[in-house]
Amino acid sequence: MSDVSRLFARKPIAELLVEGESPYALKRALGAGDLVMLAIGAVIGAGIFGAIGTAAAGQYDAAGHLVRSGAGPALVLSFLLLGVACALAGLCYAELAAMIPQAGSAYAYCYATLGELVAWVIGWDLILEYAVGNVAVAISWGDYFTSLLRSFDFRLPAWLTTGYRTALLSPDPAVHGLLQDAPHVAGIPMLVNLPAFVIVMLITWLLLLGVRESATVNNIMVTIKLLALALFVAAGLTHIDRANYHPFAPNGFRGIHQGAAIVFFAYIGFDAISTAAEETKNPQRNLPIGILGGLAICTVIYMIVGTVLTGMVPYTELVGVADPLAKALNSAGFTTVGWIVALGAIVSMSAVLLVFQYGQPRIFFAMARDGLLPQWAARVHAKHRVPHITTLITGLFVALWSLIGDAGETYDLTNIGTLFAFALVAVGVLVLRYKDRDRPRPFRVPFVWGTSLTAAALCVFVMIGLPRQAWERFGIWLAIGLSLYLVYGYGHSRLSGLSSPSAPPGAGR
Ligand code: ALA
Repeated sequence: MSDVSRLFARKPIAELLVEGESPYALKRALGAGDLVMLAIGAVIGAGIFGAIGTAAAGQYDAAGHLVRSGAGPALVLSFLLLGVACALAGLCYAELAAMIPQAGSAYAYCYATLGELVAWVIGWDLILEYAVGNVAVAISWGDYFTSLLRSFDFRLPAWLTTGYRTALLSPDPAVHGLLQDAPHVAGIPMLVNLPAFVIVMLITWLLLLGVRESATVNNIMVTIKLLALALFVAAGLTHIDRANYHPFAPNGFRGIHQGAAIVFFAYIGFDAISTAAEETKNPQRNLPIGILGGLAICTVIYMIVGTVLTGMVPYTELVGVADPLAKALNSAGFTTVGWIVALGAIVSMSAVLLVFQYGQPRIFFAMARDGLLPQWAARVHAKHRVPHITTLITGLFVALWSLIGDAGETYDLTNIGTLFAFALVAVGVLVLRYKDRDRPRPFRVPFVWGTSLTAAALCVFVMIGLPRQAWERFGIWLAIGLSLYLVYGYGHSRLSGLSSPSAPPGAGR
């Protein structure tokens, strides 16, 4: 194989399938209802409890300059746009997942469709969706935790609950002022989000013990999420001021577009259910029902929550608010409901943290098994049967970043990375329809040309709504990833034939 053609070498699907066959053959037990529950479990979290405020109100930097426009009450239209984009991308995930049921999600699909280079880029890119996404969730978790403690008049010092980047970027003088007011060590302000750090380490510890979310735990979590949001809506509806709906779209289509680009975070996670394809009964019918059903339910819930939130408080009051639902309830005088919803938010976000902290090490695992990462990343703990090294590395990476990071910055980075992955998966479906026509497809995307190209175009369109900084950082992230591929992955890939093709430890699972 020439050097250049190696970059586009595709991993044969037959090989993918053999690897996907685990000694613990998975039973096809999941129906459409189970998939809907899984989707809701993975999706509802920091996006609707945290990012929604910035999506409605917009964002300003520390100097008071506009970073992005808010959608205002027209946020409902942002949710609608995202619901359509995600539904189309979700169908594409369903086709590939049913065809290539293997750990690694979009990474594995792209290896089979678009070749090794793109697969590496996606694997690297998925760190943004999973690990960096969890930084944002952890920070939002910390904000709601602090707000919950405050409801009981227990106040942690602000320098222990505010990350350095949040203070640096905040236009709020009280928060920005912490840069001076916090204790200093060697001239550096000690500004940390301790609750965010602690929750990530706790979840990492559970995962190292081999804990994973079961269907029962997921159902309980989903019930708590839905109850918390229902309570918010029920209380909020009694406190709507119609004047808050005027103007409906204060920043026109730009606000709706830029609001969508940040609140897209609320939809991330439904793609994870495509990884359950192998365990789904009658996937041709149940996968699309599960994905589209889950997305439709979440979209409707989000639109209702968005309408109630922007009716309760003028959208301008949500600038820089980390816990908008709790704030809206508290300012309407519903303090008891406020802390119950904050508690629901904490539980919801813990579930999301668990799903993503579980997923990231398994993507590293899949990449290491293919030789694109060092073999130690594919090691599995002898007793607990978990990829312990990558679980620990992921935990430390996420926990340390959450300690000093800012939620807004991490939402943007996660969103741009995830939207890019969605777009590539959508194109991948089309490519594979032509390169591998005859392979059995338990689920086929309807109107494949229209669906996949529209999905990719909508994802790119939402990406364009992100601030310039997000694009710059994304470019830097991809450049680092590409350098690593050239320095390591290219030479060690199992497809290169240059390294030993022997299976890495733990590859047999
Ligand atoms: N969609 C997930 C959340 O909002 C990532 O927390």
